[in-house]
Amino acid sequence: MTHKQQPSPYDAPEIYDLLFESFDFDLPFWLKVASEADGPVLEAGCGTGRVLLRLLEAGADADGFDLSGPMIERFWAKARGRGWRKRAIVADMREFSLPRRYARMICAFNGFAHCETTEDQIRALRCFREHLAPGGALVLHMSYPGPKYWTEPDGVPTLEIEARNPLTGRMIQMWDTRTKDPVAQLQRSEVEIREVDESGRTAASHRSATSQRWVYRFELELLFRVAAFSRWTIWGGFEGKPLADSQDQMIAWAWRD
Ligand SMILES: C[S@@+](CC[C@H](N)C(=O)[O-])C[C@H]1O[C@@H](n2cnc3c(N)ncnc32)[C@H](O)[C@@H]1O
Repeated sequence: MTHKQQPSPYDAPEIYDLLFESFDFDLPFWLKVASEADGPVLEAGCGTGRVLLRLLEAGADADGFDLSGPMIERFWAKARGRGWRKRAIVADMREFSLPRRYARMICAFNGFAHCETTEDQIRALRCFREHLAPGGALVLHMSYPGPKYWTEPDGVPTLEIEARNPLTGRMIQMWDTRTKDPVAQLQRSEVEIREVDESGRTAASHRSATSQRWVYRFELELLFRVAAFSRWTIWGGFEGKPLADSQDQMIAWAWRD
């Protein structure tokens, strides 16, 4: 889970939004999942609402929660004046209890990878199942940790993404120094956000750390079994194709019958 000693990247939601708010590669998929759901939708790890706000704008009956207070506060600021403030709360996917039961529980953009131990994964999946109405389904998006991913060089600061800060006109860069442990299926990231002036000089820097635990297909199926889901299907990519390529995105559906 997020490091206690070091700041988390999710402590700086305005930077998260500058870098990631415009990501829309998965939005048509989540909008389809919500529009076809026969009841309300709950997003675990909704962050600042990149997905949740789009679902609400489309008229979905959707709620969300996130472990990070700052991320949820930013969601509230964006939802202000639209009647959606109460749609998202601070909660932990490993231990939460909400009064509603949902037709779909969703967990987008590798949010489930923040469960770093098998115990955490099982706790989260049990909570997800508990919050599904009978006949409801959990839909998870996780990248597949194929061989190419594990053999990328370790410990090298890499510019992952950059965007212009509209307030200062400077570039915001996310440098990620990853260390991977293929046995523990863990990636540790030392993240540096640099604000760079016209001459390329770093004018400001914000450091944080996070970890992600990857799962393989049959491991995920076993986790669903342990968490008492009734049945499951794992697709490769958002188009509903069979999982066949080790660079595919895993889209897992698990039902509570
Ligand atoms: C990669 S971000 C995804 C945010 C959003 N769903 C999106 O697609 O932009 C992962 C999110 O999971 C949240 N998170 C991490 N651990 C969590 C936990 N135990 N319970 C709930 N949320 C958690 C983080 O705070 C972060 O907002």
